[in-house]
Amino acid sequence: MATRYEIYVEDREAYFHCGGEQRLLHAMQAQGLGSIPVGCKGGGCGICRIQITRGEYETRKMSRNHVTEEDERQGIVLSCRVMPKSDLRLRLAPKPKGNTESAA
Ligand code: FES
Repeated sequence: MATRYEIYVEDREAYFHCGGEQRLLHAMQAQGLGSIPVGCKGGGCGICRIQITRGEYETRKMSRNHVTEEDERQGIVLSCRVMPKSDLRLRLAPKPKGNTESAA
């Protein structure tokens, strides 16, 4: 039987559930919730950045334009590229600074 984890979004005081093989953002959206901003759902836009404050998780490859190594050390990830391995707590992460390649 597939494992389901409880995901708590601190900023929104909202819960949703996510399977161990499911991406956080996809699970949230499938439950009709809008706790995390949704964009490309494929790791390309960076709008779904979150910071995981508690719990175990696994990530797929993430662009360094959106998540630096330092971000990753602080638990900042793209929610469309993350699968939970335990219950999680998270909050929305601030947008990255200083990586706009074509600043006007
Ligand atoms: S929704 Fe675009 S990077 Fe996650």
